[in-house]
Amino acid sequence: MLSTQLLVVSLGSLALVAAQGAVNCPELPDTGVTMGEPVPMHPEHIPTGCSDFEILVARGTSEPNYETGGGKFGIVVGDPVVSNTTLKLPGARGYPVQYPASSDIVSGTIRGSLDVVRRLRSQAVACPNQTFALVGYSQGAGVMHAAAKDIPVHLYSRIKSLVMFGDGYRRLGDVLSRFPVGLNSKVMQVCAEGDPVCDTSGECVYYHLTYIRPDYINPVVNFIVRGFTG
Ligand SMILES: *[C@@H]1O[C@H](CO)[C@@H](O)[C@H](O)[C@H]1NC(C)=O
Ligand SMILES: *[C@@H]1O[C@H](CO)[C@@H](O)[C@H](O)[C@H]1NC(C)=O
Repeated sequence: MLSTQLLVVSLGSLALVAAQGAVNCPELPDTGVTMGEPVPMHPEHIPTGCSDFEILVARGTSEPNYETGGGKFGIVVGDPVVSNTTLKLPGARGYPVQYPASSDIVSGTIRGSLDVVRRLRSQAVACPNQTFALVGYSQGAGVMHAAAKDIPVHLYSRIKSLVMFGDGYRRLGDVLSRFPVGLNSKVMQVCAEGDPVCDTSGECVYYHLTYIRPDYINPVVNFIVRGFTG
């Protein structure tokens, strides 16, 4: 298990000011990001042309990039998932869902889900051999739930896996957290024990920030690679 110290270092500039329920929660990393602030979007990070495999990543609220590592997809989930999948499967690349990931969740979810559907539609036409994975973390999981309702059924076979981290829908139970039939069997839910966003008995926001650990990332990378390579 990764030490708390390494976690704090890895989280870099991520701040989370949300109150924690229990008195004996591990301390949150004290960092410079204001929770709720939008994340700057970088259209220049959108990959062009075709690749064999594309991982669409919707980051968590105010989740910054792994700046020193050149990441583009969010420090806690997207950057480690994309970089490690790419190591195992060089034909894979990431697409950063273009949405602000601010505390304005209603408009952000609409904007993000429109972006996901638009990206899938346009890439599917431009790149007939490209297949996709959908990854959402926290607010980004909500974006993927919303997008899934609007993804045309004919594109389902091109979507090889969906992975949700710290998915708030999961707290609502199995029925409400389901994706549409035809996608749901390809979903992997990753919920850290004690993460109050997805675990009904969770009380410490700290655990919502632990997905960066290899214990969480490695199985997901294997799941995505298996989805792509069949
Ligand atoms: C798709 O795959 C087929 C068969 O492998 C190949 O001939 C074709 O060039 C590919 N198309 C694109 C756009 O990569
Ligand atoms: C990424 O892959 C490297 C090399 O296999 C491994 O050492 C590291 O733990 C992985 N990172 C995560 C976050 O899983």
